[in-house]
Amino acid sequence: GMTCAKALQLTLAVIKPDAVAHPLILEALHQKIVENFIIIRKKDLTWRRGDSERFYAEHAGRFFYQRLVEFMSSGPMRAYIIAREDAITHWRGMMGPTKVFRARYTSPDSLRGQYGLTDTRNTTHGSDSIESARREIAFFFPEFLADTWMKMEEPGF
Ligand code: TYD
Ligand code: MG
Repeated sequence: GMTCAKALQLTLAVIKPDAVAHPLILEALHQKIVENFIIIRKKDLTWRRGDSERFYAEHAGRFFYQRLVEFMSSGPMRAYIIAREDAITHWRGMMGPTKVFRARYTSPDSLRGQYGLTDTRNTTHGSDSIESARREIAFFFPEFLADTWMKMEEPGF
């Protein structure tokens, strides 16, 4: 019978409030996602400050933490569960480096290199490991059932 040689991996992608605020940038980022991934779920949402603080708890105490949690709860975002082979690494690569000047000078074609405004207002989020993808998908999509996730991880899905 037919076999699927490539294993699908899931990751969380988020278009941050700075990019959602600009319809042309939002559309460009959405098209990049459509071209590169299978979209499993998509949702528009706005965080309260407490959501922001919980999601970024690992950064509590860093110099940018207050600015980050303020920004991430400042307006609407768009979140996706996306799938492909090596989805985590592929999306992180498309995003480019965290810091805007590094992104512009070393990866001008990356999403952050093209559209990033500052180190904080840097257009997109992507999970950085399988463990954070699990946690972050559950954070944004609590209704996305664990058994669906488990099926995705079976070889040959
Ligand atoms: P981090 O997890 O280091 O980056 P990434 O988003 O690439 O995984 O940091 C999380 C967010 O914190 C980052 O997207 C924007 C913000 N941030 C700043 O505002 N200033 C900084 O110097 C850093 C490192 C991050
Ligand atoms: Mg990170």
